[in-house]
This record gives sequence, structure tokens and C-alpha cells, in this order.
Amino acid sequence: MQDLQDIARAIMAPGKGLLAADESNESADQKRLEAFGIATGEEMRREFRDLFLATPGIEEYLSGVILYKETLGQMDDKDGIPSKEVDHLLFPKLLSERGIMPGIKVDDGLDPMPDSPNETITKGLIGLSERLTEYRTTYGTTFTKWRAAIRIDGDRLPTSAALVENAKRLASYASEAQKAGMVPLLEPEVLLEGKHSRLRSRDVIETTLHALFDACRDQAVDLSSVILKTSMALSGKDTGRIDSPEDVAEDTLGALLNAVPKEVPGIVFLSGGQTPDQATDNLRAIARLAKEKNAPWPLTFSYARAFQEEALQIWMGKPENVPSAREAFINRLETVSKASLGQ
Ligand code: G3H
Repeated sequence: MQDLQDIARAIMAPGKGLLAADESNESADQKRLEAFGIATGEEMRREFRDLFLATPGIEEYLSGVILYKETLGQMDDKDGIPSKEVDHLLFPKLLSERGIMPGIKVDDGLDPMPDSPNETITKGLIGLSERLTEYRTTYGTTFTKWRAAIRIDGDRLPTSAALVENAKRLASYASEAQKAGMVPLLEPEVLLEGKHSRLRSRDVIETTLHALFDACRDQAVDLSSVILKTSMALSGKDTGRIDSPEDVAEDTLGALLNAVPKEVPGIVFLSGGQTPDQATDNLRAIARLAKEKNAPWPLTFSYARAFQEEALQIWMGKPENVPSAREAFINRLETVSKASLGQ
């Protein structure tokens, strides 16, 4: 079995990063397909995955792809040839054959917190170790993701109860993932939605990460074999304010340097509802500042929306649009990959 630290290093290979293609079926239907006027359902979700995963050349920029469980068992299109005459591949195999590691999201989504219904707690610990083993052995997944969602509302939210409970569950998940031989991606997403300032976002990111790494230490998680997936420090979406990339970099890196242990082998960013250009420019500024400040960990991208938006607008669910949609995707990948190097 590949050493966990080697897997983490491979995820963080310079100029490479992750594509998050792990929307649940419901999110894929409603937030991706329907939102762009595309038909929904299992076959359309398969075509949606194929659009991105079978794009030629993605291996130059992607070290891994985070998948959803339905996608593990689906097959590629072979460029629209549905007949049985060609050998179709399961998506995880299609990726591995091109040197891209398949990863799997294993949380089961969000439940409202009983005492604070505007906040959520992530579920999915029941039966987790069996699922991890099955994904590892059947599909060759080498890393895995668990997402918690942290909401900001003035000084009221997040509550420390929500931070602590989500952190505990992230740590329990990380410990199970490492036992199963997979690198855990820990994603405590601080949400962009809200009227908060960038400084409030920075504070909440820092507090969230302190709670997370305290819980990891309590549960003896090996911090040299986890990857942190984090939000950037940004003004809340409802303020309408667009922060300068330099400000985003200063506050994001400030929070990370205060809260993320040096032994963590890598940090990846989610795009969180930023436009593709914002997610690119902010990553570039963060990468440059990290170099200047000699940050102890490599940094890169793990985007879903910032990679998908332009391609989905072109695709519209039509086979004839696949080549131009893929071109938009690969162009964005190349730009974001350069940005991760500060270029
Ligand atoms: O959970 C969120 C995904 O992993 C990243 O998605 O880049 O659209 O925020 P996003």
C-alpha cells in the first residue's frame, strides 16, 4: 500500500491540484444541471462527469479528482460512442490510467444542529470504516474528503458548540481514513454567504482551524498525513464587496500561519462561490505571499464551481458543445495551475 505521506506529496505536486467533482446527486441535479438549464437524472449526471473527467490533457494540471459515490460505478463515454464495441472504463480507472488519483467524498451531508438550527453538523460516521475499505479496495481511491459547513452571522454564529462538534467529527473521520490507508482531506468550509467583513471571516477561519487541529491532536490523527481544504478570507457575499487579491492573501495567510501546524503536508483551497477569475486571482496572490513569507506548507487548488461554471455555460447538455466546453475547462485549469505557482 502506498505510504500516506507519499500520497499527500503527490496531491501537492507543484503546479497541480484537485478537481472537486463530488456534488451529491441532489446538488449535481439542482445546483449544476438545472441551474444551467440542463436536464437532470442519472444519465445526465454521468455525461456531466464525463465532460470534465474525460477532457484530454487534464493530467497535466490535476493530481487528483474528488468523486461522489455514484460516479465510482459509472463509465466514461469514449467521446460519445455509446455502443458496446468500445471498451468503456469506470471513471476511477479512467483517471488512474492517466496518472490522476481518484478520491472519494465520504460524509453524508449536513443536519441542522439541534440547539442551533441555523447551523449544521456533518453526518456520516456510522459505517464509515467499512465504506472506506470498500472504496479503497474496489475502486483504488487513495484519498478522501469530509466537509463541514461553518456559517457566520455577526457575532452570533458560529457557536463554539458547532465548531467543536464539527471538529470532533472531522478528526474521527481523519483517524478512520488513515486506518483505511487513505489520506483525509479535512474541509471545514467557512461559508461566503452573509454580511460579514473579511476580517470577521479571517477570525472565524482561524478559530475553526484551532478547534480542528485541537480535535485532531486529541484523537491522535497523524498531522503529517492529512491535507487541509480551506476557504479564503473574504467579505461576505451579501456585502457586495469584492476584496483585492492582496487583501485576501494577507488575511488568508495570516489565519493559516496562526493556526495550521507546520507538519501538515499541504493546504488546498475551495472556490466557495467566487467567480472563476476571483478564485484564480486570489490564489495567485496567496501563492506569491506564501513564497515571500516562506510558508511551511505547499498550497494549491481544489475547486468545483470555479472550474465548472464556464464549461457548463457552453455545454448546455448538448453533445455538439462538448469540445468547446472542454476547451474552456482546460484553459481555466491551465490558468489556475499557473496561479498556484504565483504566475
Ligand atoms: O465542498 C466544496 C467543494 O469541495 C469545493 O467546491 O470550489 O465550488 O467551493 P467549490
